[in-house]
Amino acid sequence: MPASMFSIMDAAIDEARRKRLELIDLSIGSSDLPAPEAAMKVLRQATRLSETHGYCLHSCTQPLRNAAAVQLNKRYSINLDPEKNIITLIGSQEGFGHLLLAVTDPGDQVLAPDPGYPSYFGATSVAGLKQVVMPLLEKNMFLPDFTAIPSETAKNARAMIISYPNNPTAAVASSAFLQEAIDFCLSYDILLIHDFPYVDMVYGDYEAPSVLAQPGGIDIAVELYSCSKSYHMGGFRIGWAAGNRDAVQALARVKGAIDFNQYFGIQQAAIAAINQPRAATLKAAALFETRRNVLVDTLNKSGWQTPLPQASMYVWTRLPLGLTDSFDFTVNLAKKTGVCLAPGRGFGKRGEGFVRFALVREPDALVEAVKRIFDFL
Ligand SMILES: Cc1ncc(COP(=O)(O)O)c(C=O)c1O
Repeated sequence: MPASMFSIMDAAIDEARRKRLELIDLSIGSSDLPAPEAAMKVLRQATRLSETHGYCLHSCTQPLRNAAAVQLNKRYSINLDPEKNIITLIGSQEGFGHLLLAVTDPGDQVLAPDPGYPSYFGATSVAGLKQVVMPLLEKNMFLPDFTAIPSETAKNARAMIISYPNNPTAAVASSAFLQEAIDFCLSYDILLIHDFPYVDMVYGDYEAPSVLAQPGGIDIAVELYSCSKSYHMGGFRIGWAAGNRDAVQALARVKGAIDFNQYFGIQQAAIAAINQPRAATLKAAALFETRRNVLVDTLNKSGWQTPLPQASMYVWTRLPLGLTDSFDFTVNLAKKTGVCLAPGRGFGKRGEGFVRFALVREPDALVEAVKRIFDFL
């Protein structure tokens, strides 16, 4: 198992705290906004009913599966059977780890992005899989180049992981790119896993496309949804997987041996969040857009050339002043200034030379963070 970047950063943050530095922690993508009030109201009511306090077996999850199916239909005109094609998750990260266990055997190969969300590396190790890296390069807009995957490698791969809007690079993918991924996976019979927690973290007119809405998508792909980012409910641990029936059913069997689903009241809260007007979801995303504008503008005015992302809750940029060691930079920065960023290397070898800002503080704090960074430099 690779060492977690967050534990390394945590030690640096602890040192800053002991020096009584005021922390500006932009290292973790945990939203600072509250969950929707409608969701909290439903949850409060549910906790008062003792009949919600017991185990929640599969049939209890039907209302949430139904709500997810209706939302997918409204949003992307996708028709899924909530019984066969959708399963609720205790967060998309849980679903991802168990999905790998469900659809692979130890020793199988998995195509995974580098840089990528750290859990991809960890869950691959837990499942005893061999990871075949798909480099996400700046010159390719941080999209994998499928033509660079040798056909022998593709023939031996059991699953492919992609995720757009992307963490950490903040890159987005077009539906044409998703179609390319689907066609590639169909031709080699590879399960396509599209990790999609940032579906609603979109700016301006940008809409994130779903693999399930593309021709062939439902045949070969599973898409992972989460309430953590769309509805600022990361602590409540709730999401769902939708897509290929066999993969979803295999995941259900693995989960059946491991968990009894999320608390019913939290599922009800998720339904309330899903059913809130889309304008409310996008209003929260617009706050992140304002933060993005302020941060990128302040960085660029200070001479740090940073691209303007269209989605996600991150800004991903090269280290300043030709620096090359992202751990060295972020650890020393945290210890000396209290500003905490995520080192690019923590997301994989190809992330070295970059740093990630999570837009989880108000604009004033972002401006203050940039000021401290330049004083430090
Ligand atoms: C790409 C990606 N996938 C999954 C997760 C975890 O989501 P959840 O809270 O639904 O487990 C995150 C959280 O930051 C993420 O960035």
